[in-house]
Amino acid sequence: MIQRIKLVKTCAATSTSTRWFCKEIVSCLALLCLIACTPQSKESSIDQTLAFGVEKVKSSANMITSYDRMPRRIPAGETEWQTVGLHDWTSGFWPGVLWYAYEASGDESLKQAAEKFTEPLAIIAQSTADDHDIGFQIYCSFGNGYRLTGNEAYKAVMLQAADTLATLYNPIVGSIHSWPKKKEFPHNTIIDNMMNLELLFWASKNGGSQQLYEIAEQHAETTRKTLVRSDFTTYHVGLFDTLDGHFIKGITHQGYADDSQWARGQAWGIYGFAMSHRETGRADFLETSKKLADVFMSLLPEDGIPYWDFNDPDISHAPKDASAAAIAACGMLELAELLDDPQEKSKYKSAAIALIDRLSTDEYLSRAQNPAILLHSTGHKPKGKEIDVPIIYADYYFMEALLRLRKLDK
Ligand code: GLY
Repeated sequence: MIQRIKLVKTCAATSTSTRWFCKEIVSCLALLCLIACTPQSKESSIDQTLAFGVEKVKSSANMITSYDRMPRRIPAGETEWQTVGLHDWTSGFWPGVLWYAYEASGDESLKQAAEKFTEPLAIIAQSTADDHDIGFQIYCSFGNGYRLTGNEAYKAVMLQAADTLATLYNPIVGSIHSWPKKKEFPHNTIIDNMMNLELLFWASKNGGSQQLYEIAEQHAETTRKTLVRSDFTTYHVGLFDTLDGHFIKGITHQGYADDSQWARGQAWGIYGFAMSHRETGRADFLETSKKLADVFMSLLPEDGIPYWDFNDPDISHAPKDASAAAIAACGMLELAELLDDPQEKSKYKSAAIALIDRLSTDEYLSRAQNPAILLHSTGHKPKGKEIDVPIIYADYYFMEALLRLRKLDK
């Protein structure tokens, strides 16, 4: 500014043509000044939110120093993470958040923390599979670690985990038994399980058996035919006959009702089918993901973030689920990357940006309230657990969505 004033003074004392030239320079400077002062561009607002996320993750990492305890939730009214052990289904998300924060910042202290929290989880790959969640536990931790470091020891753990997950496959049904411990159900398969196919697809390309690919493809096919309803909403849980494999019925576990639309289930489906199309090239998986995304968008309330279940009868008082928004945003960005048609690409990218933008407001970002990145997720409403609180997988998929968007824009 001082320089600009000096320039104007100098110009005033010179000839007409020089004055015209000086005026042009002054206009250029004014334009540059205007550009610098306009609101942040999309890219820099993503960078800002990522930087905010990195700082939150760093401060959480300084508070949690038992490497076999992973933050899962901040209970209502509290301001600290409540941690869980390695066998909890969410145990891979915290190391995953650390890897994403390292990816976003290049900060070596985050890499060291990510390694320390990832490595104890190797025992999950070695034990017999308690359930399908081994995919979340290992792919989010070791998977990101391997992608970012190429550490061969991580690859070995992932291959072992894929073989362990595959032991839950039932060829009569054509799907993985998601919750073997729930003895009241015969063979069950849940929509969330779509996400864990990524570990199998990855393993089949990285030294594991071709059978892992076949299991993953068949599981996605069985899910498409049974858990995806004709209106492209989804059941949470499918129950199957163990003798002849037929689909008995769809029910809910974490949603409002058997035939309602649990928001996170729909989001798992969008992401899971887009990823399955990426891995198999199957057009029906792509179509399924697009239609699930269209339904998800059509059901969003005015503020753009889903209620925990789109059919909660007390919808105006129902809690939100920021985690469903973050997962759906990742799935839609995957779709945007996979689609060739420019209009379709832009449709799903814009929808993802709308979700990310809304999550990036002060209503959903925790700011200084607590150590999480996002507020307002709902884990298990029917059980009265984790209602309208920060949950670690919301932070994980939000960081992923921001990183995906940053890459897509480069
Ligand atoms: N996989 C469990 C959930 O989405 O809550």
